[in-house]
Amino acid sequence: MKVGIDRIGFYTSKWYVDMAKLAKARNEEPGKYLIGIGQSKQSVIPNSQDAVTMAANAADQIIDDRNRDQIDLVLFGTESGVDNSKSAAIYLQHLLQLRSNIQSVELKQACYAMTAGIQLAKDHVLAHPESKVLVIGSDIARYGLHSAGEPTQGGGAMAMIISANPKILTIEEPSAHYTADIMDFWRPLYATQAVVDGKYSSQEYIDFFDRTLTEYQAKTQTKLSDLQAIVFHLPYTKMGLKALKSVLSKTDDRHATQLLREFEYSRIFSREVGNLYTGSLYLSLLSLLVNSENLKSGQKIGLFSYGSGAEGEFYVTTLQPGFETAIGGDKVKHLLEDREELSITEYEAMFNSQMPLSADDFTTHTQIDSAKFYLAGQKDQQRQYQRRK
Ligand code: CAA
Repeated sequence: MKVGIDRIGFYTSKWYVDMAKLAKARNEEPGKYLIGIGQSKQSVIPNSQDAVTMAANAADQIIDDRNRDQIDLVLFGTESGVDNSKSAAIYLQHLLQLRSNIQSVELKQACYAMTAGIQLAKDHVLAHPESKVLVIGSDIARYGLHSAGEPTQGGGAMAMIISANPKILTIEEPSAHYTADIMDFWRPLYATQAVVDGKYSSQEYIDFFDRTLTEYQAKTQTKLSDLQAIVFHLPYTKMGLKALKSVLSKTDDRHATQLLREFEYSRIFSREVGNLYTGSLYLSLLSLLVNSENLKSGQKIGLFSYGSGAEGEFYVTTLQPGFETAIGGDKVKHLLEDREELSITEYEAMFNSQMPLSADDFTTHTQIDSAKFYLAGQKDQQRQYQRRK
């Protein structure tokens, strides 16, 4: 039985900051952010959005009256959780009006958790072919104003339906994994911003890519030339380019040129949004599917997932007939084109106004945020989620 990605939804906030202007404000050459880091714009997330509402805004685009009642499992990957006990998946199940006789669980392993969700969903569908699984990756990437990580911030959510006979991509067996206990990036329980050893994390990312790709090739005899494209977790788009360049000597020049060309399509959306943490690899996949003119059904796409701490996975998917009509590319392009630019001062004010974890009766950006699902505040230590008609 074929199992894979049947639908893909994406959401990010309607505000962004221009990276050339941010570079100037930080006394850096614009070229460092635009080329050296590889980012043009960065999504700025208002305090009326969090991991739950962004997930709801992404999933709402792919759930309809036909598939709503078939969803029997929600797997919510995030490292921007809103509660240490209750899962974000329960809030989401309620906001999306899904059935009650289902399972809803949150998963965590830094940016890897959405991939874990996709693979668990695949096994669930193999065991229960009628079922559809909603898998989420939703995060706000925060390092702090004036920090080295600032140009690699961002935020947003990816949502997918994993099912039998999928319209977009099948997920192939096997995967290759590599796990090691390292301290490259983490967020202690008391912190709202990540702690990161930036240079070390970038080295480990490349090492994990090399290890998982090598193991995948040993297990399957796959050659790089069997892959139409490789898409990467993109904490910043130059990171994926560095990893790709590190293995190009393993293939001939013509195919190396093809992989580099497809990589450029895969980084268009991340360049405009920044890091999504858990959803980042899948925004890069969506960008390839929407923007490349070279894709045909039957072609294979490799995916490299990396979550600091750290877990890496390499796996392969196959494009399905009619995938072009199933991806809804125009919606994504409009969402990105219709955003509003913030000045540096406005961005800093929005960044600093994130809801404190313990504040009651906190007023959020409800009035200016027109998203369908939003956080109205907190009352009696309970987050107040709302849905516009
Ligand atoms: N024109 C063009 N390029 C320029 C330039 C200019 N004027 N000035 C500098 N550059 C280049 C530099 O040469 C450098 O390129 P290389 O990496 O190819 O050498 C690049 O711009 C960045 O410059 P620096 O190395 O000086 O940048 P930095 O020290 O200020 O920080 C960073 C960069 C380490 C990525 C930092 O932003 C950071 O810590 N980010 C967060 C951590 C991160 O994203 N890690 C990725 C792996 S971990 C992961 O994937 C999980 C996750 O999601 C976090």
